[in-house]
Amino acid sequence: MHQPVLRVLYRFVARRTMSTNITTELLRVDPNVIRFPKDATMPEIEPSETLTNLEKGVKILQAETPIAFPTETVYGLGASALSTPAVKGIYAAKNRPADNPLIIHISSVDQLERKLLFNTSIPDIYRPLIEKFWPGPLTILLPVPENTNISSSCTVGQSTFAVRMPSNPIARSLIALSDIPLAAPSANASTKPSPTRASHVYHDLQGRIPLILDGGPCDVGVESTVVDGLTDPPMLLRPGGVSLEEIRKYGGERWQNIQLAKASADKNEKVRTPGMKYKHYSPRAPVALFINPTDSESRVKEFISQFEPTPQRVAVLTSRAFGEPVVQAVQEHCQDVTVLSLGTSGAEISRNLFAMLREVDEQGMDLIVVEGIDETEEGLAVMNRLKKAASTIIN
Ligand code: TXA
Ligand code: MG
Repeated sequence: MHQPVLRVLYRFVARRTMSTNITTELLRVDPNVIRFPKDATMPEIEPSETLTNLEKGVKILQAETPIAFPTETVYGLGASALSTPAVKGIYAAKNRPADNPLIIHISSVDQLERKLLFNTSIPDIYRPLIEKFWPGPLTILLPVPENTNISSSCTVGQSTFAVRMPSNPIARSLIALSDIPLAAPSANASTKPSPTRASHVYHDLQGRIPLILDGGPCDVGVESTVVDGLTDPPMLLRPGGVSLEEIRKYGGERWQNIQLAKASADKNEKVRTPGMKYKHYSPRAPVALFINPTDSESRVKEFISQFEPTPQRVAVLTSRAFGEPVVQAVQEHCQDVTVLSLGTSGAEISRNLFAMLREVDEQGMDLIVVEGIDETEEGLAVMNRLKKAASTIIN
């Protein structure tokens, strides 16, 4: 065969085997052997298996290859935000639409200034929020500096970039030790619920990435809150681990007027946060979300009796209001009903939400019935995810 043809063929085969046929190693890491004070730039890590495994992760990141690691919100799939091949590796592994920009994760404000901002400074409006919520589940938008070194695959043509400092000691140490700002979306296959355990990442991305650092279940369970303080009024682009009430409480005067961005958008609509227009958090089974907890028994009964084809296996995810009568209403129509409690406090419900959606999906349900909660405090982020996961919303 001709040389050029062979070369193209080789490249094609290499690319396919690279993205689908690699061995995925799962390595344990223990956040408890790390001390990383709020204003420090480097962690103190006891000599341990955790340190060895973190160093393995750093080597892979230096080779411009994505790895998965725990953050306090959900597991992330990270790679250098400064390298286009690295960032492209993320999109390929996840099968993520190429026009949905990524959040850059930094380990300190010093690193943000040194590696990403050059001579520009962080706008004052963010100061109180950074002081209160970093490290933690808050993402802010900053203007992309002129002559930026951030890969355009990461910002996908936006004039702003999203950045946060994770509080999980594993995530933060990985970024500090490598001194690489990491572009990192949630480490799920695109459209699936975000992963809150290493096993979820393994399920979705096994064979597609070389390494998953297993640091146990995530604390917060939903993704970070994304805010835009560059507009007047400032905007809440995605509710998440920091509540709207907390932003108003600690942000100072200008954040009192924060507005909520629309929760979803049509395919061709230009949107403030590009993630809006994509399918999200979807289990295989249809999800029916009951928003209003009053009179749920009769509404659930009516819904189930009309659902076609008659579901054999149904999961009911309860939180505060669904009780025995609702479960009985489902049992009247279905043979096999599994009831799981998401918890009662907002923090519990957030922590369990994605894991339970995955758990019932693994069991091959025909239908998932979920109880909605008030859209206050943690409830705003929970309901944002549930509305996106739902195929039917019953008011
Ligand atoms: O908690 C989190 O934020 C997790 C962990 C891994 O840190 N990451 C995460 O990333 O949720 P991802 O890619 O799943 O969500 C990023 C969101 C998307 O909705 C995206 O559209 C938005 O941030 N975003 C990123 N850059 C943006 C920008 N310049 N302007 C507006 N929205 C942006
Ligand atoms: Mg995501």
